[in-house]
Amino acid sequence: MSDLNQNKIIIAIDGYSSCGKSTVAKEIAKKLNYIFIDSGAMYRAVTLYCLRAGMVVKGEINLPVLLENLKKIRITFVFNPVTAHNDVCLNGENVEQEIRQLAVAQNVSQIAAIGAVRQLLVAQQQEMGRSKGIVMDGRDIGTVVFPNAELKIFMTADARIRAQRRYDEMIAKNEPVDFDEILKNITERDRFDETREESPLRKAADAIVLDNSHMTRDEQFEWILKKVEERVS
Ligand code: CDP
Repeated sequence: MSDLNQNKIIIAIDGYSSCGKSTVAKEIAKKLNYIFIDSGAMYRAVTLYCLRAGMVVKGEINLPVLLENLKKIRITFVFNPVTAHNDVCLNGENVEQEIRQLAVAQNVSQIAAIGAVRQLLVAQQQEMGRSKGIVMDGRDIGTVVFPNAELKIFMTADARIRAQRRYDEMIAKNEPVDFDEILKNITERDRFDETREESPLRKAADAIVLDNSHMTRDEQFEWILKKVEERVS
């Protein structure tokens, strides 16, 4: 473990929606004493801002108004001592719970496809990784944010299994949800993320694929930890 702590690296985890990237990224960051950043939470927080400001009408974002207001959006993270992880804040307000709502999920991909939004958030993400010792998950971390990351993982899992996991998570939080709606949302988001012009979801040439459809949480944790050990030894 001493080596693991001495040679701090950047770990980029990209992949499809709801395949457990953040869950395992958090566990790995905790084990290594690294910072964990959920880049999707940043896109979700921008989306929440747009929804609250009434910039999304009939599912369409009012782009000129968003661009005009972009400077007013401040995304930060605050340490949550209860969960021992960083919660995302929108202009100083902790919105970690609110950004997980389906309304945000249904609009986030179109907002994440806007070049100016990406530029703003990618610059912040790169700044966070300046001293290494970071695990960041998202869609473009290994391709755009940290193209020189020492370890890149591309996560995937069967779409129905991913939908079931997200469904179980929301039911556990007592949120009224419909399985088919969740499945539709994740498959649509994947398609949108993969086909957009700005930084599409793509496996970096040097990323390792992790299909966790039939893996337990412990198994995938150990799998990644082994890859980390190979990189830092
Ligand atoms: O939690 P889940 O995997 O469903 O999604 P997320 O990581 O919270 O990301 C929400 C959305 O933000 C994705 O569907 C992408 O459209 C966008 N995103 C992105 O474009 N680039 C990133 N680095 C992270 C998220």
